[in-house]
Amino acid sequence: MNNSTFLITCSDEFQGAAWAELKQIDPRLEKGETLAPGLFLISSLHDEASLAGLVEFGQPIYVRHLFPVQAVIELDESPADLAQLSARAVEQARAEDRQAGDRFSVQARLIEGIPHTYNTFAIKEAIVAALTTTLGLQENIKAPEYVVSVVYAEKKAYLGFSRPEQNLSDWAGGMRHYAKRPEQISRAEFKLLEALEVFNLDLPKTGTVLDLGAAPGGWSRVLLEAGLRVIAVDPAALDPRLYIPGLEHYRGHAEEFLRRAEREDRRFDLICNDMRMDALVAAGLMADFARLLTPAGLALTSLKLPHETKKLKPHTLVLRALTLLKQSYSEVHARQLFHNRQEVMVLLRNPRPSISEKHHNQSVK
Ligand SMILES: C[S@@+](CC[C@H](N)C(=O)[O-])C[C@H]1O[C@@H](n2cnc3c(N)ncnc32)[C@H](O)[C@@H]1O
Repeated sequence: MNNSTFLITCSDEFQGAAWAELKQIDPRLEKGETLAPGLFLISSLHDEASLAGLVEFGQPIYVRHLFPVQAVIELDESPADLAQLSARAVEQARAEDRQAGDRFSVQARLIEGIPHTYNTFAIKEAIVAALTTTLGLQENIKAPEYVVSVVYAEKKAYLGFSRPEQNLSDWAGGMRHYAKRPEQISRAEFKLLEALEVFNLDLPKTGTVLDLGAAPGGWSRVLLEAGLRVIAVDPAALDPRLYIPGLEHYRGHAEEFLRRAEREDRRFDLICNDMRMDALVAAGLMADFARLLTPAGLALTSLKLPHETKKLKPHTLVLRALTLLKQSYSEVHARQLFHNRQEVMVLLRNPRPSISEKHHNQSVK
């Protein structure tokens, strides 16, 4: 007997990898229907809280979002649908013993390519109205105690209540959207912003950042805006708007910069890397760059991946790259972000003090 069913969201391209990592977390999982590319059901012998806990603890790379499915509601595209959906949400809230004043938010998604009678706004409005008027619950989008997730598929809706942290992402389906700003230099900026959120990182208030593969300069712009000094390394030109105090452009390759920085014994509080290169080469270089980090320094790197073929498994490449990185960093945490296309992002933390760092410390004593 299955004790819980979850709806999993990942990138279409990495669905196989997402399923493989889930099976590793719980070998007895069973895969159910794929509702859309990158959206599939799984069933587990564990109850909801245990399975969600196992997934959270397992730190999956490719699973972006999940929620427990507690009701599948048949819809006939008539005006009665919204009432039926919200009545089921109220029933579930009662079953979970939700009390007046409990804070909730509703996240609704439509499966693309299917004609829908209602949009997400109408679904959210109906459920919010039912939960607040019938049970006295409080809608609070910023700090909900639980999330009501709804996925509207063809003539059916999947509904589930969960605590936000059990969903792996605060955003419906892990789809974090940012508003485009006039000063934005590249779409890659969203990738850095999302990584900071997903890895729960605050940029240092002061200090120097190394931005490898910086051109045209989106990441550098975000880092400069945060008040940091930036050394942008790229043989290509940067957007002219970036040439402001605080920015230094090393117009060459990261490999040359590494040799020069080691000779000059330079240190950085944060090293960011978005160089367009093979994932294993990037990991090897980032392992070397660990020597240039301050002891409490962090690094963030993208790993660019090939498309999967019969012979080439991008996930195998990621595992090899992560193994390499683990030799130089004490924490290596990878996620395939919503703004990542054919790549993953990796947070790297606290390298062991480098030899020259040890010398510095010894000479201070
Ligand atoms: C995807 S773009 C980076 C986008 C950038 N993060 C942004 O926010 O605008 C990749 C960059 O990597 C640079 N690159 C590739 N190999 C490099 C190397 N060995 N050293 C330095 N930069 C490199 C390319 O010149 C290219 O500008």
